[in-house]
Amino acid sequence: MRLVSLIMVATACSPPPVIAPSSTGLPAPSVMARFLPRAPGPALCARGNDDRVSRYFCQSPPPSPTSLLELYRGLGLDPGTPGSFVALTAHSTALGIRSVNPLNPRALVFDGLPRDRLSRRRFVAGGFTRGEPIVELVTRDETTQQLRFFVVAATQPCDETASCVLADRLTEEAESGWTSTTLYEDLDLENTALDCLRCHQPEGPGTPRILRMQELRFRWTHFFAPKTQSVTGFEALLDFFTAHLTTERYGGVPGDVVLHASDPNALSQLITQEDSSAQPNEFPGFTIALERESSGQSATWEALAAKAASGEAIPVPWWGLRVTDLENQTAVASQFQRAVRDGRRTDVPELRALHTEEVERATGIRPISNATGREVLVQACGQCHQPRRNQQLTRARFDALRLDAMSPEARQLAADRMRLPEGDPLQMPPAFSTVLTADERARALEALLP
Ligand code: HEC
Ligand code: HEC
Repeated sequence: MRLVSLIMVATACSPPPVIAPSSTGLPAPSVMARFLPRAPGPALCARGNDDRVSRYFCQSPPPSPTSLLELYRGLGLDPGTPGSFVALTAHSTALGIRSVNPLNPRALVFDGLPRDRLSRRRFVAGGFTRGEPIVELVTRDETTQQLRFFVVAATQPCDETASCVLADRLTEEAESGWTSTTLYEDLDLENTALDCLRCHQPEGPGTPRILRMQELRFRWTHFFAPKTQSVTGFEALLDFFTAHLTTERYGGVPGDVVLHASDPNALSQLITQEDSSAQPNEFPGFTIALERESSGQSATWEALAAKAASGEAIPVPWWGLRVTDLENQTAVASQFQRAVRDGRRTDVPELRALHTEEVERATGIRPISNATGREVLVQACGQCHQPRRNQQLTRARFDALRLDAMSPEARQLAADRMRLPEGDPLQMPPAFSTVLTADERARALEALLP
């Protein structure tokens, strides 16, 4: 009932202006694929990997899944059937931080619960957000027991002619009709902006790899949680259905499964089962909400945000329910829904980067207000360029947390990389995760070249 009336309210609003695509044919911040290595790692299939993802892709002849669902089924995942679990989140602090919101959530699909101790077979988890046909996967090697991360990058027909528009990337079309797929393993991505280990091996080389879920416990503030008593989990779900249909598959998950079965509790169980319950900056949503309700602020959240701003931890999720402005979100949702319903492909609006500026500043997408040049460098570069990351990579020659120890040449190179034009794959910081104003860029440059 509530769902139906919300959808009707949404449809009554007037459309917002269409966001113009950038010259690359794909509007910012759809820039992740740009950072993939030109070729996948040499001889991935000769590495002796003993895991479900490598085994699937290294069959002969190699499979070429033409849709997200076909890929998942090939890996043994089938959302909506027994044994497969799903959890959708309306806010993410992972690679897709700027792309994920209630209208364009991140859909996680996984199995392996509970662990069958008699079988060697281990879990697989996949994550997909519309915007780019990139699938993130993790599984465990059944011989070495190490977690292994992968990217599957697909191409759509529009990629062949460099003519992709938002309708190709943000509607159900994004999830099928794939013309090819390429598999990359974490070690092939380590010196790219898509490095998985900077978050999934937070203490650096030689230390444990972990699954991540900051909102590990009840009051999963941003997860769709229809089965719990969490009001917030229900709100996010309602927001989603102001843009999408229950007959649609999103992230490989049938709409009715999104509606009834998104289950963050199952993801929490997987995280615990896979020895990842020590999350470096866990987000205790229940405590944070209580503190905000009683005093209008949360000391717990502020402390976590400070830890992230210092470069010590990945961003902390926003304390509030929505990362977007509700009015804007509602207008965009209704424009999206009408464009899809009427088959007007060119009217499909941008669903990503809808965060308010306040949320962007609180979650590390932008530096904190009035940041000094040095603070800009720590906050915009320190997540990737710092002592705990692999020091054998070229990336380690720039260290945002040890600016004073850097040679004038290294500082000059950092400044040069910051001055590259938008859209250049060498421009720093990468636009999929970070936004700087011209002013902030200028202050950072001054700190680099005093
Ligand atoms: C900036 C930090 C960050 C980076 C980089 C990152 N992840 Fe994650 N990842 C997360 C967080 C946080 C979650 C929990 C869900 C969320 O917030 O989206 C997560 C969740 C996942 C999940 C679901 C299982 C789980 O651990 O909860 C998969 C699969 C995954 N990531 C794969 C990858 C792969 C593959 C890469 C590299 C291409 C990668 N991630 C890079 C932070 C990151
Ligand atoms: C999302 C992770 C990420 C962020 C954030 C980031 N970088 Fe990078 N940076 C990389 C990676 C990966 C490389 C190595 C590949 C390359 O050279 O493009 C790199 C390379 C560099 C290099 C070249 C180092 C060398 O000697 O070869 C410089 C300089 C640099 N970054 C500066 C910056 C500055 C300045 C910022 C912040 C304004 C920043 N980066 C933010 C990931 C990041």
